[in-house]
Amino acid sequence: WPGEIVRMNRVASTQEEAKKLAEIGAPEGTTVMAEEQTGGRGRMGRKWHSPHGKGIWMSLVLRPELPLALTPQLTLLAGVAVCTAIREVTGVPAGIKWPNDLLAGGRKICGILLESSLREGGLHYCIAGIGIAANLTEADYPEELKGIGTSLLIEGGGIPVDRTRLAEAVLEELEYLYALYQERGFQPVKELWESMSVTLGRQVSVNTPQGRTEATAVGLDDNGGLLVRSGTGGITSVLSGEVEMI
Ligand code: BTN
Repeated sequence: WPGEIVRMNRVASTQEEAKKLAEIGAPEGTTVMAEEQTGGRGRMGRKWHSPHGKGIWMSLVLRPELPLALTPQLTLLAGVAVCTAIREVTGVPAGIKWPNDLLAGGRKICGILLESSLREGGLHYCIAGIGIAANLTEADYPEELKGIGTSLLIEGGGIPVDRTRLAEAVLEELEYLYALYQERGFQPVKELWESMSVTLGRQVSVNTPQGRTEATAVGLDDNGGLLVRSGTGGITSVLSGEVEMI
């Protein structure tokens, strides 16, 4: 990984630390990793449980030359990179739930949060946050996450994960895929994503600010949106919102 890695013990959120560095000109690839987050953040304003020494909590500074509308592609790219690294290093058969949750055994093991900062109407930088529940035990989960969150330790039959090795593998995969993406565009990433997806072909319930509908997930569009087919056969693209498999 070409970027500098900044290791921290306890932070509110690595997103904020990476943002501070990006604001003062940190180059693309700069990565912040923390042992613990006291205010870890998830998508849709949720909290992200990040206990000390149990996971990989990291945020990367990216400076892609991209229109804002295409940044969801980067989220999918990060999902593919993490999924590949997890499968390689741990053998846990992780799959991707659109847009960027990694599941194993039907429960969540990783979340990705991509935040973009704008300048003069264009993209200034992105912060790609990756949270991997590596060595959490069932007891590490608070009541409200039991049954929702799992970890590589739990899914791997109790074998602890070497977090350093896994983090290195994630960064290596990201480097490879990001170069591929810059050279050949979204298509190869899209194909990899589709091959790792646990969403495609499934009945899903789509919750958007416009309301809730049920449909079948059939593919990805070129912006990284999820294509769904409704009961009447019409295909629409979901760009943001929540998708539950039913
Ligand atoms: C989600 O699934 O809702 C996204 C979770 C993203 C969590 C990671 S952990 C590292 C980085 N710092 C944060 O505060 N959040 C992201």
